[in-house]
Amino acid sequence: MSERIFIGVAWPYANGPLHLGHIAGAYLPADIFARYHRLKGNEVLMVSGSDQHGAPITIRAEQESRSPREIADKYHRQFIDCWQKLGISFDLFTTTGTENHTQVTHDIFLTLLRKGYIYRDKMLQAYCPKCQRFLPDRYLEGTCPHCGFLKARGDQCDICGRPLNPSDLKDLHCCLCTTTPRFEASEHFFLRLSAFQDKLRAWIKEQTHWRNNVLGTTWKFLDEGLKDRAITRDLNWGVIVPQPGFERKRIYVWFEAVIGYLSASKEWAKSQSNESIWQPFWQGESKSFYFIGKDNIFFHTLVWPAMLMGYGPELDSGLNLPYDVPANEFLTIEGQKISTSRNWAIWLPDYLERYEPDPIRYALAASMPETGDSDFSWGEFLRRNNNELVATYGNLAHRVLTFAYRNFDGIVPSPGELDEQSQRLIHKAEAVLDTVDKMLYRCNFKEALREAMSLAQEGNRYLDEQAPWKKIKQEREASALCHCEGRSPVAISIYTALSLLSALKTIFYPFLPFSSEKLHSFLGFDGSIKEVGWTFQLPLPGQKLREPQPLFVKLDDSIVTQENSRLGTLFNGHRFTSFP
Ligand code: MF3
Ligand code: ZN
Repeated sequence: MSERIFIGVAWPYANGPLHLGHIAGAYLPADIFARYHRLKGNEVLMVSGSDQHGAPITIRAEQESRSPREIADKYHRQFIDCWQKLGISFDLFTTTGTENHTQVTHDIFLTLLRKGYIYRDKMLQAYCPKCQRFLPDRYLEGTCPHCGFLKARGDQCDICGRPLNPSDLKDLHCCLCTTTPRFEASEHFFLRLSAFQDKLRAWIKEQTHWRNNVLGTTWKFLDEGLKDRAITRDLNWGVIVPQPGFERKRIYVWFEAVIGYLSASKEWAKSQSNESIWQPFWQGESKSFYFIGKDNIFFHTLVWPAMLMGYGPELDSGLNLPYDVPANEFLTIEGQKISTSRNWAIWLPDYLERYEPDPIRYALAASMPETGDSDFSWGEFLRRNNNELVATYGNLAHRVLTFAYRNFDGIVPSPGELDEQSQRLIHKAEAVLDTVDKMLYRCNFKEALREAMSLAQEGNRYLDEQAPWKKIKQEREASALCHCEGRSPVAISIYTALSLLSALKTIFYPFLPFSSEKLHSFLGFDGSIKEVGWTFQLPLPGQKLREPQPLFVKLDDSIVTQENSRLGTLFNGHRFTSFP
């Protein structure tokens, strides 16, 4: 029976290029999951978009003397280009700047207001007398009351990850000029998060299938007690507040960004000329998965569910709560925390200019920060590319395909009855297809990929034992002598290896979509793997192969020092300051 899977992926701030931390944290696991489910014949809707609002955008705009809109548009275009080149297969990647998003945000805001889950109150807002402006939370710096970090921001502490209000910070100052701000009273709207404490507790208790790190973080917040949060700000960039007297204020970026999941689903439905087809993905049997980095857990396991609970009819929400939030931990680069301000990051557009997409998809999936932080290094990237992709999987594919292409007139040989060893390999491939299926279903990506690569290794061992390149000469001579078509061990081993490759193309497809499609074509199949689905597609004897090319290219050792020398240095003559 086919399932319905909604996949929401964190909305990246459109204030700078994407880096490998974003990809390993959210976009790659989401894409692997989406591709897997589509092959399984399930209905998938995967959406996200540029987060165009909030201080990260206005700060960048001020730095570059451009308007927030220009900054947001520029990076939005860049994101879309990156998704296409890296093969991140969104059904829709939109932005929070659309008319539709404003409408959906207003609908939720007004519904929560009507039901008493949003209320009006006075809040003290920081004002910098020197800069002569209200300071958004992220422009405020001070000491974290929880962990003592000296440079915590007014919205959250980047060290202990706790969400903060500016008034929580000790030693508060303006991050633009270090002046101590004064506080002025200003009217704002608040989300009554405290009202959902018990309902959220009961709901979280049922989520025993969630990852430990996600549950741990969520319980920490629940146990500390949920506090109401201001959801409007004194700003002129953002979604307008649909209430009179609030013309000079805007909705807080996090409140509307999470609504993006719903507004994007509705936009997608409109683009399919069927305004209501978003509904089956949000109601009833459908399961919602949210792929995010660990710093976003609070908003996805507590705030967004509370908003959905409040929005839905009476006790239970009309819209599905998250089924799973498989948040990843962080990726470090060469052993150090990623820092965009110090340029300690590997920028995706740079990577894509120099290398193929599949090797980075492979390297990041192989050491994905699923249960703890993990490290990316160029040395490891090189090793994974050269030893695993080129020497193991690529080599298996290439020697089998070229051998078949040259010695069997470019067609899949007819094997007759398979010997025991070959049958065993075929059964093994079937079993791995099944195991990987279960692992991907549970979002265990790293484990699944290891399983796939060890099958490729097994293929190499099989081929080495069979050594068809040695046997072929004897076979040819023997058949020339007797002019009879006997049982051919060479045909058997090549047929078996081609079958194994066909299993591998499917098993690897969610991870390595570009090479899998190539392999599919070299094996002589038409169309796309997408049409075949998650199944062991056996090649037919007599099927015409296509002339093979190597699936992967060996990279030179010198890239390691070359790439490392770029880390931490300023580029493009563009100086990054210490702002977010
Ligand atoms: N823009 C936020 C960030 O980069 C993520 C927003 S996720 C959403 O941290 F759910 F709120 F959209
Ligand atoms: Zn802290």
